[in-house]
Formats: sequence, C-alpha cells, structure tokens
Amino acid sequence: MASILVAYGTGEGQTAKIAERIVAALQTRGHATDGVDVGARLGGAFDVGDYDAVLVGASIHGGRHQSAVRRFVETHRDALSTRPTGFFQVCLTAASPDEERQAEAAGYVDEFVETTEWRPDRIAIFGGALRYSSYGFLKRALLKRVARDIVGDTDTTEDVEYTDWDEVDRFAADFAAFVEERVRIDATKTKPQEADGD
Ligand SMILES: Cc1cc2nc3c(=O)[nH]c(=O)nc-3n(C[C@H](O)[C@H](O)[C@H](O)COP(=O)(O)O)c2cc1C
Repeated sequence: MASILVAYGTGEGQTAKIAERIVAALQTRGHATDGVDVGARLGGAFDVGDYDAVLVGASIHGGRHQSAVRRFVETHRDALSTRPTGFFQVCLTAASPDEERQAEAAGYVDEFVETTEWRPDRIAIFGGALRYSSYGFLKRALLKRVARDIVGDTDTTEDVEYTDWDEVDRFAADFAAFVEERVRIDATKTKPQEADGD
C-alpha cells in the first residue's frame, strides 16, 4: 500500500470531479489517498514529503493553468522530483477531434512542464465540461463561440461533459500500477541495507 496525494486546481468543478474519481480508484486499490484542492487550501498546510507519490491536476482557462497549481509545483519541485508523480490536465481542446486542437492541448502541458521544470512520470489530458446553466449571458455567449470553434457544438441549453471517464479510470489504474512497482523496487533496494546493519 502506498500513500498518494492528488493535488489539483479547479475553476468550475470538473477537475475536482475527475480528481475525486481518481482518488476513489486509488483507494479501491488499497492506497491511502488524499485529494486536496490547492486553490482552496492555505499554502504550506500539508507536507508533500508525507506521501509516497503525487498526482497533480489542473484545468485550462483562457490558455492558462491555475496559478495555485503552478505555485504548488514550484514550491514542492524538489519533493516531486524524488517520488513517482503524474500530471493530468483538463481542457476543452482535448475533446476536439482536430489534430491541431489536440496539439494545442499538448502544448499547454509542454509549456507547464518547461516553465515549472518538473518532469512528471505520467501525463494525461482529459476533455472538460461546460456548465452553461451557471453562466451569465455574456459568458454563455463567449463559451458558445469557444465550443463551436473547438468541438463544433452550439447548443447551450444543457451543460455538456466531454470527459471520457473510461480514459480517467485507465489513467488511474496505470498510475497505481506504476506507483506499486516503484514501491516494490524501493522495498527490495532497502532490504539488503537493513540486513547489513544487523
Ligand atoms: C472562461 C473559460 C475559459 C476557458 N478557456 C479554455 C481554453 O483556453 N482552452 C481550453 O482548451 N479550454 C478552455 N476552457 C474549457 C475548460 O478547460 C473546461 O471547461 C474545464 O472543464 C474546466 O475545468 P474546471 O471546471 O476544473 O475549471 C475554458 C472554460 C471557461 C469556462
């Protein structure tokens, strides 16, 4: 069993919903997993060093990730670089069948990795959601245009979820397997040293 932190930022709740799904999947596999909204929590209130592995999640608004997530990664970069980590990004461009849009979504990740100088071991990009029912007139009109350009949808009468939950489940399972393997390898490495000390 490993202890895993899922630290995320969210603007309208979709990244939180995906993080919750991943937390539940990791807990089902027997891992002690905490989900933390780093935008809502006061900085420094928890210790990344307490965890065997860390997953970081962020969504894209106006081409940018949450600044709280960026701060979290920059603050804890050293701890992140010494344990298994993963990054998942949530955005609309990921839901587009268009290759250029897919490249745009991947470009957000590349920029994040480059500027934070953190190299996550596993990366996933998920389609997000548009919650038209919570938008005012102007925002709904703006997002209608964005959705039309990116995914070709123009219906704003209902909220739309573009997240592929099977993809989320596969990512959670893959990350769990990766962490389990690393924990197993670390345990075999430390065993002979313990024996030497006897
Ligand atoms: C105001 C606004 C701006 C957005 N800008 C982008 C964008 O630049 N690129 C993109 O791919 N998705 C964009 N999206 C889509 C969001 O990434 C998507 O709604 C996602 O589910 C948000 O996750 P969250 O609810 O965790 O914040 C935008 C959404 C909103 C509401």
